[in-house]
Amino acid sequence: MADRIETFVESMMIRPTDRVLEIGCGHGVAATLICASLSAGSYLAVDRSRKMVEAAARRNRAFVDAGIARFMQSTLESLDLGEQRFDKVLAMRVRLFHDQPEQAEQLARRWLAPSGKLFVQYDEPERR
Ligand SMILES: C[S@@+](CC[C@H](N)C(=O)[O-])C[C@H]1O[C@@H](n2cnc3c(N)ncnc32)[C@H](O)[C@@H]1O
Repeated sequence: MADRIETFVESMMIRPTDRVLEIGCGHGVAATLICASLSAGSYLAVDRSRKMVEAAARRNRAFVDAGIARFMQSTLESLDLGEQRFDKVLAMRVRLFHDQPEQAEQLARRWLAPSGKLFVQYDEPERR
């Protein structure tokens, strides 16, 4: 699992100043790798599961305390981030991207800055 996530995060070429949004962070494994590359940047994760949000925040407590990472419970469909925009948005193995890829990508792209980039990993569908 770690290899899959590490390879994906490496492909994002995170810069120290990036503003990063992750959809469906799960346990927050990618969060740890991403936040380690951020100095002046920021990371926000959303997940529809409160349990996952709590687990991810626990795992990344040091980055939360340092003001680099935030974790919030929301679905992508109901996400309201106001005027916030991101340089990189990622979603790994989130079911909506398998079931309704066009809708999911459109929803995710709403939060990209003008030159921002969306990264999606489609490999295995999430199991219900
Ligand atoms: C299969 S897990 C993948 C977790 C992690 N991204 C990874 O690759 O290991 C999918 C995660 O996405 C969350 N999720 C599924 N659908 C979602 C949606 N529509 N909006 C937000 N989170 C969602 C689930 O709660 C779960 O934590």
